[in-house]
Amino acid sequence: MKKIIIANWKMSPSSLKEAESIFAKVRSKAAKLRGVETVIAPPFIYLPLLKSRGRIKLAAQDVAQNDDGPWTGEISAKMLKGVGATYAIIGHSERRELGESDDIIREKLYQSLSRGIKSILCVGEKEKSQEAFPHIVREQIKKALKGTPRYFASKIIIAYEPVWAISSHSKGRADTPQNFFEMSIFIRRTVLDVWGKSAALRLPIIYGGSVNTKNAKGFLEIKGGAGILVGKASLDAKEFNKILEIANSI
Ligand code: PGA
Repeated sequence: MKKIIIANWKMSPSSLKEAESIFAKVRSKAAKLRGVETVIAPPFIYLPLLKSRGRIKLAAQDVAQNDDGPWTGEISAKMLKGVGATYAIIGHSERRELGESDDIIREKLYQSLSRGIKSILCVGEKEKSQEAFPHIVREQIKKALKGTPRYFASKIIIAYEPVWAISSHSKGRADTPQNFFEMSIFIRRTVLDVWGKSAALRLPIIYGGSVNTKNAKGFLEIKGGAGILVGKASLDAKEFNKILEIANSI
């Protein structure tokens, strides 16, 4: 199975020129790597402009919760599909922080899946010290998947991203591969409760939070781990390309 490596550019870089430059460098590396599914999630406005994609797949960082209608500032899943987005990130903690509720995330997930977009559902607890954190993650997954038909299961990826581990967090430090391993089992069990065994067994589960060239290998090697979601380090083409090479060698 190819490792899924997703670059989440967030609200960067600040110019199209820079975006094209990073994209071109990553594209030429990705073209040589057969063992990696390379995905770049740029800001919306760059999506249709990053041309000749080669082996790189594009992802949206968000999707509107409605498919059409008068929603100022929103971008629908249909539009995203139309400009070549294969994937979409749904429910990232930075969107949750802006007020996205579990209900909104469920609707966004549904819209994205309905348009045939592979959807990366982000879940994760806020504080490292939260004792009940598996329970929090379970609730996030159950609420997001509630009412989502099982036939969508093959189009979902779950990203475990503990908020405290994200590099921009005040104490941001990566989680351990061992904890990711344990959480991946827990996440699979939760999906088993919702959709049954075969969907749970096939579910790709990836890790996100301060991934870099030093720690990527550990997260990519764990049994049952399907890949990684990379924020900050994905804006440095050299660093990101190194991560792609590491993934390709596993
Ligand atoms: P980070 O971001 O790699 O900069 O921690 C990951 C994410 O928020 O998706």
